[in-house]
Amino acid sequence: MRETIVIANQKGGVGKTTTAVNLSASLAAAEKRVLLIDTDPQANATIGLGFSRSDYEYNIYHVLSGRKKLEETILKTELPQLDLVPSNIGLVGIEKEFYDSDTEGKELILKRKLRDLKSEYDYIIIDSPPALGPITVNALSAADSIIIPIQCEFYALEGLAQLLNTVKLIKKSINPKLKIKGFLPTMYSEQNNLSRQVLLDLEHHFKNKLFENKDKSYVIIPRNIRLAESPSFGKPILLYDIKAKGSVAYQNLAESILASA
Ligand SMILES: Nc1ncnc2c1ncn2[C@@H]1O[C@H](COP(=O)(O)OP(=O)(O)O)[C@@H](O)[C@H]1O
Ligand SMILES: [Mg+2]
Repeated sequence: MRETIVIANQKGGVGKTTTAVNLSASLAAAEKRVLLIDTDPQANATIGLGFSRSDYEYNIYHVLSGRKKLEETILKTELPQLDLVPSNIGLVGIEKEFYDSDTEGKELILKRKLRDLKSEYDYIIIDSPPALGPITVNALSAADSIIIPIQCEFYALEGLAQLLNTVKLIKKSINPKLKIKGFLPTMYSEQNNLSRQVLLDLEHHFKNKLFENKDKSYVIIPRNIRLAESPSFGKPILLYDIKAKGSVAYQNLAESILASA
């Protein structure tokens, strides 16, 4: 049974793409077959895995606009078990196409495309754009669960109510099986009181929705320069510096997900 997980938070810069890329790579390194779907027009996951515009003809835009099947857009990555559906700035056009057309079920296009996907994957990970617009709604409608990265900084929980409300609405209307898989504290700094406060807040409100390591401590992604550097080499962190703290933390996240599967 494959599981589709969307990484979402309408705030930008909270670690969605870093999580999507490195969770996907860590699951692939654990011998799972993984498809990462980049649905952000900024295409950071695509670029972070080393692809540029000349490497592909079709991208997620062609899928969401109904022109292509997912299979026709899939790229092989440097990790044998990890494939990618790339994105591209052209995807910004999809929002206008969605608004202009009055086709029923626009929010279900990705779900239908995934249903038609014949290739075998254990996990489908969807990176989403920093907005609660039609692309994110498509992703949430297609997913089994959502992981919400929370940057351990000031205003971390601001906007969360709106996101949780969107999840609730989608659950009620189009995707009853959608679950919150967990909140993931990102960019945590030991020395920073704010970081510690955000973690305490998360623990207070969502204790049973934090990922756990084998020793029952929480999975926390530290602020780690290697994580920020690896996309510029077109690699997930485990192909860039497997022993870096950030790499170990994402491997722990993958283990926690596999342990609860
Ligand atoms: N744990 C981390 N430590 C250091 N830098 C990080 C970490 N996570 C993300 N970053 C950096 O922060 C920026 C925003 O992260 P990103 O994953 O692109 O967020 P989003 O996809 O939510 O916009 C990027 O430059 C990324 O490299
Ligand atoms: Mg991103």
